[in-house]
Amino acid sequence: MSDLTFTPSSSIFEKREALLEEWTPDELVGRDEELQRYHAALQPVINNESPSNIFLYGKSGVGKTAATRYLLHALERDAEEVEPLDLHTIEINCDGLNSSYQVAVALVNELRDPADQISNTGYPQASVYQFLFEELDNVGGTVLIVLDEVDHIRDDSLLYKLPRARSNGDVTEAKLGVIGISNDLDFRNQLSSKVRSSLCEKEVSFSAYDAGELQLVLEQREAVAFKDDVLDQGVIEMCAAYGAKDSGDARQALDLLLEAGDLARENNDENVSERHVRNARKRLQTDQVVEGIRNYSDHGQLVLYALTLLAEREQTPARTKDILEAYQHVATEEGMDPVSERSVRDYLGELDQLGIISSTEYNRGKGGGKYKEHELEQSISSVEAGLSELLDSTP
Ligand SMILES: Nc1ncnc2c1ncn2[C@@H]1O[C@H](COP(=O)(O)OP(=O)(O)O)[C@@H](O)[C@H]1O
Ligand SMILES: [Mg+2]
Repeated sequence: MSDLTFTPSSSIFEKREALLEEWTPDELVGRDEELQRYHAALQPVINNESPSNIFLYGKSGVGKTAATRYLLHALERDAEEVEPLDLHTIEINCDGLNSSYQVAVALVNELRDPADQISNTGYPQASVYQFLFEELDNVGGTVLIVLDEVDHIRDDSLLYKLPRARSNGDVTEAKLGVIGISNDLDFRNQLSSKVRSSLCEKEVSFSAYDAGELQLVLEQREAVAFKDDVLDQGVIEMCAAYGAKDSGDARQALDLLLEAGDLARENNDENVSERHVRNARKRLQTDQVVEGIRNYSDHGQLVLYALTLLAEREQTPARTKDILEAYQHVATEEGMDPVSERSVRDYLGELDQLGIISSTEYNRGKGGGKYKEHELEQSISSVEAGLSELLDSTP
């Protein structure tokens, strides 16, 4: 057995935390246009005028939350210098709070003393809104409410009520502004026009990062996270290029750099090289494959399991009818009614699309008909890791 004693390692990282999700940089780089528009939309606040309701949208990982924290922090700082201004900000993430009701309860509790909290049941919706408006009046001054990941709220009653609470006279003592943030680009279009017109008074769209912008983001973190001269020439550029190609998501690019650093450390290498980046990318993709399989439907997983068994017996590429037969066998063994041949074909098509298997169609010419052959596109071990939950849970 290898040596499993733990000793602190000191190479590679100066401050590894700086690459983790929780870390907020002091400066945001590569978002000049977005920050400028966002800044302009917040200008009424510092003038002590009624705030505009602002709506931000863009894919995940493009800096919407980071930009919001950064600008609200700057706004709070500068508001202290402005005499008549009394600014309060509240941030709520709506992920996991699926209804207007739950978000309203969360806002009330955010505004109230710990001793005075309300529960998630037991009050009619109208009372919860009443509590919320009372608390907002108690706070007074200017109140900015950030509803991050607002697309998780399935009904629009709060999104209708809150942005117009002041004009409707529900709130009289506070100047209220709502900042809605959405990762889902369609969310805005699905809103009813009356909600949209009040919630989206000012809109700021965040574009995906291009390679140049990601390079700025990564260089900024490199300076904090890594020891001097640890990254080989080209490492940052490579992470930025992959990041831009994959999704333009800063989080993914930062994760890739972190994984590359971890790999270098695991191998006791003194530098992070392009080879580490390539291997890190494979490792992260494998994680995604495992996750993808794990979330797949039971019968989809069983079809994949049937193909995996054939692969273990070196009987792949395998024809659809052979996979069907193997699938019917394992499904019955697992105590489940097999789905139709048609559904099995559909699952194979989906697995091909997901990049988990690859399928090739053959045509035997006149009268011979067409058939398909399938094989795993990912390693047997990562597919099995993804299937493990299903296989463990069945008798
Ligand atoms: N311009 C930037 N400069 C530095 N770090 C950034 C920048 N944009 C995003 N990040 C980092 O990338 C991650 C994702 O950004 P986030 O603001 O959470 O994206 P979104 O809210 O759009 O999904 C966070 O860890 C954030 O700190
Ligand atoms: Mg966010």
